[in-house]
Amino acid sequence: WRWSDANAQQAQRVIERYPPGRQASAVMPLLDLAQRQVGEETGTQGWLPIPVMEAIAQQLDMPKIRVLEVATFYTMYNLRPVGRYHVQVCGTTPCMLRGSDDVLRACYDRGMKKDATTDDGLFTLIEVECLGSCASAPMVQINDDNFEDLDYDRTLTVLDALARGERPKPGTQEPGRHTVEPLGAP
Ligand code: FES
Repeated sequence: WRWSDANAQQAQRVIERYPPGRQASAVMPLLDLAQRQVGEETGTQGWLPIPVMEAIAQQLDMPKIRVLEVATFYTMYNLRPVGRYHVQVCGTTPCMLRGSDDVLRACYDRGMKKDATTDDGLFTLIEVECLGSCASAPMVQINDDNFEDLDYDRTLTVLDALARGERPKPGTQEPGRHTVEPLGAP
């Protein structure tokens, strides 16, 4: 596996942010960059095949097992192929109390199963821990977008728009409510 030319330069810029001898600190952004490259190459949200992790381990001069440890710890790294839309439903307590079961039910009613990709390759569904948007629970992250203040019908509206190839507006899905900006947002 090899970086694209543009990503090779980007990876080098990331590594140079860290002091000499500390290049292993670049492992997380490099895994993210590599996953996105695989996604562009496959028309999906990308994943991390073993040769990709081995290439990063070699580039950062770290044991392969350390790279695998990082990739398996965080749910944002995909260890197997995912569909065009990676549906990550938060199931932690605040979202659960506010109706994450209804969000999941809407996903199931559109043919999704947990930890699987739909036959048309469109949706991969997983349940994840808190995504830091508890004030607007229940929420789901789809690719890089958060959809918040969901219920069953609002979830269907988002999913159906994606299935039609549209890009629904992220943020709160509750009419009249303003999206809660994360701390430090510009
Ligand atoms: Fe769901 Fe925090 S509990 S975003």
